[in-house]
Amino acid sequence: MFKFLGVILMSTLIATSALAAGEIKLPHPDKVGKKTLMHAINMRKSSKIYINKEIDAVTLGTILWAAYGLNRSTGERTIPTAMNQKDLSVYVTKKDGTYKYDADYHQLIPVSKEDLRPLFNTQEYMADVPVVLIYTGSKEDYASMHAGSAYQNVGLFAAANEMGSVVRGYFDKEAVHKALNLPVEERVIISQAVGYTQ
Ligand SMILES: Cc1cc2nc3c(=O)[nH]c(=O)nc-3n(C[C@H](O)[C@H](O)[C@H](O)COP(=O)(O)O)c2cc1C
Repeated sequence: MFKFLGVILMSTLIATSALAAGEIKLPHPDKVGKKTLMHAINMRKSSKIYINKEIDAVTLGTILWAAYGLNRSTGERTIPTAMNQKDLSVYVTKKDGTYKYDADYHQLIPVSKEDLRPLFNTQEYMADVPVVLIYTGSKEDYASMHAGSAYQNVGLFAAANEMGSVVRGYFDKEAVHKALNLPVEERVIISQAVGYTQ
């Protein structure tokens, strides 16, 4: 009886702490889209002009799912990963704060109330970018390859949806590492701006 009550108490505590952490459930991604893959490949480019327009929750959820979401019930992702290692993390920073993408639950885990976009504002066109994705991972080469697959998926999504995107390496990685409070064994690999160009 006591054991049973203990289990109930523990699950209540776990559920409460999950809620207290303030995870934000993302809407279901649009896994169909309207354009063909070949159209997206043909339209892909780096955009360096943005307008000041927010990205809605469904679109953001779809972008994150394309980057690193689960596409099979067995837990594998939209990108291939060496030895099936999940050594990539995707963060998103926007006006209302900074979050880590939790692919398992397709949700955002808040990591900071701060909008870290100013840290990426090293080129003029960044001023109106609504969302910056930050790819972090282990020091293994493979993590960089995984980031490349993820940013290509996002670039293709943007191209297919009349959005703009650009991969960005020109920012202070140490400052971002510190702002994300990453452990020493994790590194900031690359970032990607996503938004609207018209
Ligand atoms: C790893 C990587 C880092 C990049 N870093 C930057 C950057 O910091 N700033 C920028 O404006 N573009 C950056 N780019 C975008 C390139 O400038 C762009 O891909 C290249 O000029 C070719 O243009 P396209 O993507 O339109 O074909 C980067 C691209 C890659 C793949």
